[in-house]
Amino acid sequence: MKNKPVNEMKLEIDSKSINEGFARYTISAFAAQLDPTVEELSDLRCAVSEAVTNAIIHGYRGGQGIVYINARYFDDRSVRIKIADKGVGIEDIKLAMQPLYTSDPGGERGGMGFAVMQSFTDGLSVRSKPGKGTTITMTKKFAPRR
Ligand SMILES: Nc1ncnc2c1ncn2[C@@H]1O[C@H](COP(=O)(O)OP(=O)(O)OP(=O)(O)O)[C@@H](O)[C@H]1O
Ligand SMILES: [Mg+2]
Repeated sequence: MKNKPVNEMKLEIDSKSINEGFARYTISAFAAQLDPTVEELSDLRCAVSEAVTNAIIHGYRGGQGIVYINARYFDDRSVRIKIADKGVGIEDIKLAMQPLYTSDPGGERGGMGFAVMQSFTDGLSVRSKPGKGTTITMTKKFAPRR
């Protein structure tokens, strides 16, 4: 088990696209307390953006719902972010996580969200139950500051 977090925040937002930027900035401001590099912070923002967007457009299919966000950081400079929805859930997680896989029929999405989350963080886990919802947990460890 991980130690007690040094700091923690929780945020609940309506599943509206306009709130994606709000969530991204809020988590970014929280993680900035660790004084990460510009690149570390921008990677984290990208990963958060993909997860929140997925919750809104896939989890709730663009309809009403709440996106639950929890962020913590620890004294080893790691940040753990959970992004959860109580939406439709994912039938086949392994398939969904494959690069270029998208369930979007419109051809507007690239199917790269999970790949981005994976490459811009140090750990990604996906828990989901059809009809119950999805929880994404991402961990990013910032390098030691000189
Ligand atoms: N929160 C979620 N709830 C339900 N299904 C999801 C959720 N997140 C992802 N998925 C499913 O996983 C698929 C892959 O997600 P991913 O983010 O990799 O690609 P995308 O959202 O389709 O495209 P892109 O992110 O490139 O715009 C989605 O098409 C969707 O079917
Ligand atoms: Mg996506």
